[in-house]
Amino acid sequence: MTDPTHPVLAAVAQGLGARHRTLPPWLFYDRRGSELFERITELPEYYLTRAEREILETRSDDIVRLAASGAEDPLHVVELGAGSATKTQLLLRAVVRLQGACTFLPVDVSEAALDGAVERLDREEPGLRVRPVAGTHHEALPVIGELGPRRLVLFLGSSIGNHEDEEAVALLSAVAEQLAPGGCLLLGTDRRKDPAVLLPAYDDAQGVTAAFNLNLLHRLRRELGADFDVSSWRHEARWNDAHSRVEMHLVSTVAQVVTVPGAGSFHFEAGESIHTESSIKYARPRVERLLRDAGFEPVEVLTDANERFDLHLARRVQG
Ligand SMILES: C[S@@+](CC[C@H](N)C(=O)[O-])C[C@H]1O[C@@H](n2cnc3c(N)ncnc32)[C@H](O)[C@@H]1O
Repeated sequence: MTDPTHPVLAAVAQGLGARHRTLPPWLFYDRRGSELFERITELPEYYLTRAEREILETRSDDIVRLAASGAEDPLHVVELGAGSATKTQLLLRAVVRLQGACTFLPVDVSEAALDGAVERLDREEPGLRVRPVAGTHHEALPVIGELGPRRLVLFLGSSIGNHEDEEAVALLSAVAEQLAPGGCLLLGTDRRKDPAVLLPAYDDAQGVTAAFNLNLLHRLRRELGADFDVSSWRHEARWNDAHSRVEMHLVSTVAQVVTVPGAGSFHFEAGESIHTESSIKYARPRVERLLRDAGFEPVEVLTDANERFDLHLARRVQG
C-alpha cells in the first residue's frame, strides 16, 4: 500500500519523520491490538478498568438520573472509543431499567472491537438498540447530532489522557458543539498517584502490555510492508513527572534503518525510541478546567473506594 493519503501511512510518515519520533495510539487497535487491550484490562496491575467498573456498578442509576434530569425526551447514549463496551453495559442497563429503552451508539476505529460489542449487547440487552459507528471520534461527531435531543456522551478508560490539554479541549469542544444545552458528558480520568503503582499498570509482569506495544510494529509490517525487525525493539514504560504522564516507548536496541514503502527510510540510533502513547494522570482541578474550557459545567465527580479513578459528569452550557 503506497497511497500517501491512507491514514495509517500518513500517520507513520508524519510520526517517524519528526525529530521526536512518535506514532499515534489509535494505531494500536487492529484486531490483535484490541484483543491484547482486553487482556490488559484483566491484568492484576491494570487497576484502571476495575476502579472505573466499580463506580459504574455502584453509581450507574445516579448517573442516569442526573443526566436525564430536567428533560422529557428519552436519554440516548454515545461512547467514543467504546472498545468492547463491557463496563458500559452496566450503565446501559441502568438507562433501560429507568426509561424502558435506549439507543446506544458505540464509536471505534477498531471494527473488530465494535463487532464483538454489538454481538454481545444485541444478545444480552433486549431493551437496547445498538447503532455502531466505525471510524475516528471526529468522523463520528456529526452522527451524534442525529440521535435526538437528549444525549449522554461517554469517554471512558481515561482515554482523554492520551491527549495534551490543548488537543483534549479541542476534542471535548467538538463534542460539546454536537450537544444541545443540558446534554451530558461522562469523562473517565485516572488520578495522579505513586509511580510505583502507575508504572506496573503499563509494564505488567506477564508482558501483555509489551506485546500490545510491539504489535504496532507487526501491524506496520503487515499493512504497509515496513521492514521493522521486531526482535530489535523493546517496550518501555516511563513516568514523566513534569508532564504528569506515563509514556510508552518502543526502544531500538541497535542502530538500524527501517524502510516503510511510501513513507521513506528512517535511521534509529541504539537506545532511540518511538513514543507511542502518553497517559496523563490528573488532579481534579485540571480536569475541571478542561471541561469548562470546552463548554461544559461540571455536575458531579464520582470516585472508587480506593480513590484511584474519577468519573466526571458534566453538562453542556449554553453556547
Ligand atoms: C484504551 S481503549 C478503551 C476502551 C474502553 N473505552 C475502555 O474504557 O475499556 C481505547 C479504545 O478507543 C479506540 N480509539 C482509539 N483512538 C480512537 C480514535 N481516534 N477514534 C475512535 N476510536 C479510537 C480504540 O480502538 C480502543 O477500542
